[in-house]
Amino acid sequence: MKILRTVDELTRHCEALRASGLSLGLVPTMGALHAGHLSLVKEALAGNDSVVVSLFVNPTQFNNAADLQTYPRTEEADFRLLEQAGAQAVFAPSVEEIYPDGDRQPDHVFDLGEVAEVMEGAMRPGHFQGVAQIVSKLMRMTQPDHAYFGEKDFQQIAVIRRMVATEGINVEIVDCPIIREDDGLALSSRNVRLSKEQRATAPGIYAALADSVVRSSEMSVEEVHDMVVNRINALPECEVEYFSIVDAETLRPVNSWNEAKRVQGCITVFCGPVRLIDNICYRK
Ligand code: PAF
Repeated sequence: MKILRTVDELTRHCEALRASGLSLGLVPTMGALHAGHLSLVKEALAGNDSVVVSLFVNPTQFNNAADLQTYPRTEEADFRLLEQAGAQAVFAPSVEEIYPDGDRQPDHVFDLGEVAEVMEGAMRPGHFQGVAQIVSKLMRMTQPDHAYFGEKDFQQIAVIRRMVATEGINVEIVDCPIIREDDGLALSSRNVRLSKEQRATAPGIYAALADSVVRSSEMSVEEVHDMVVNRINALPECEVEYFSIVDAETLRPVNSWNEAKRVQGCITVFCGPVRLIDNICYRK
């Protein structure tokens, strides 16, 4: 597996692939890899001749300095996992390499529409502008045929689809299902920051969501919303930041189950200081 550190190395690697007529899959990550990321790599390997995985903790998408500072960084272990998974190349640049003029929010304001304004967009001002900035840069550097994202960040996929359309980037976005621990907790790089007690409590988030899908046949949207929030808030050290039941395409809240083709419940919970996100499909 090639380890690429500079933009120049990356673009030359990708140009050589294109010149040989090989298709390319891009898997953007912030490292601290787990089985969820590896499922994206597997999918990318199945759908392309060659795969580039990026490992870059992108400072411009963090609106909280402590979150950026404590974000887990495990580069050597990540390289080993990617090598075992069969990725052909990893792009692991420095912050200076990506932002030679300083890591600030983008000068260019991306037109991300209303999908970027609700939920994470409302709670983390500037977050999606930063995501659009780094993902568009990576796509322009690599010009992949496909780019792979996990459905745990359900809203992020909607924002990236919008960004790709408005920026005119020619790439197919592939969304991949959430990977969970045996006890239901959605895999996240942030899970390592949970204390033993918080880790024992956190599966209660998915348990409440999964149960609410079953109960939703006999309950209104509002009743399901309140049941999930009350159940999770009753867990030790857990506090729901938001729980939105939305049209999966527009991300607008729905008031009834038949208001949209696909209805998704998107939740963010503080488990102690750790911010966990998850989502579940109610109607498809
Ligand atoms: O989902 C993530 O890990 C990040 O937001 C991404 C897409 C790699 C951009 O930094």
